Amino acid sequence: MIEPSGERLQKVLARAGFGSRRLCDELIEEGRVTVNGEVAELGRRVDIAQDKIAVDKVPVGVLPGLVYYLVNKPAGVVVTASDPEGRPTILDLVPTTPRVFSVGRLDYATEGLLVVTNDGELAQMLTHPSHGVEKEYLAEVAGEITPLALRRLREGVEIEPGLVTQPARVAHRGDQMVRIVIHEGRNRQVRRMCEAVGLTVTRLVRVRIGPISDNQLAPGVSRLLRIDEVRALAEAAQVSPRRERGR
Ligand code: URA
Repeated sequence: MIEPSGERLQKVLARAGFGSRRLCDELIEEGRVTVNGEVAELGRRVDIAQDKIAVDKVPVGVLPGLVYYLVNKPAGVVVTASDPEGRPTILDLVPTTPRVFSVGRLDYATEGLLVVTNDGELAQMLTHPSHGVEKEYLAEVAGEITPLALRRLREGVEIEPGLVTQPARVAHRGDQMVRIVIHEGRNRQVRRMCEAVGLTVTRLVRVRIGPISDNQLAPGVSRLLRIDEVRALAEAAQVSPRRERGR
């Protein structure tokens, strides 16, 4: 008799955090699980290195050992693996093993949320320009926040010759504070957008990445993302519209 190859799908799903094996069998029975795009049958076996598994159409990271941290970066931390100048790096804020990297970047002076992981596939989805997951920032600015400045920020501004930012959601929040939601990730984008309309950013905090926010996470602290958060991120990276109308 030929031995069936691969691992049982319900076991793989249970290990990935979808609950007990019985619950995972129920997911399969309900037709919510696909393998390589086809609805999986109960008893299905998979090769976790090859097969693409999805639950409710959202890809599932099933390779053992994947980790996902949410980090609240303080100002004065660099987002690189090592810094020749010896400054603290984002990797000082997460466990040393397994080796991980940050998804996207924040400037040295910028604070706020970053995802750090060893899941290259999710990282690629999140940073790919065509997926454009929303990022929300609070910017404290110096200068006069005029209705015209807000409108220009919303509609798109030229931040370098020939490069106009895509429409953004922008709101005036309190005296010198602006909330800006963008889905591009250009170098120093928010600072340069503000500069283009005569405002100087004096403090910049990223408060949301797609569906992920956490105002309880103290600066300099990291925590593991929950499975539902990882899935929500993957989903946002898949379905984010490329463009949105500014308002
Ligand atoms: N925009 C910026 O200007 N800086 C960041 O770190 C992130 C977005």
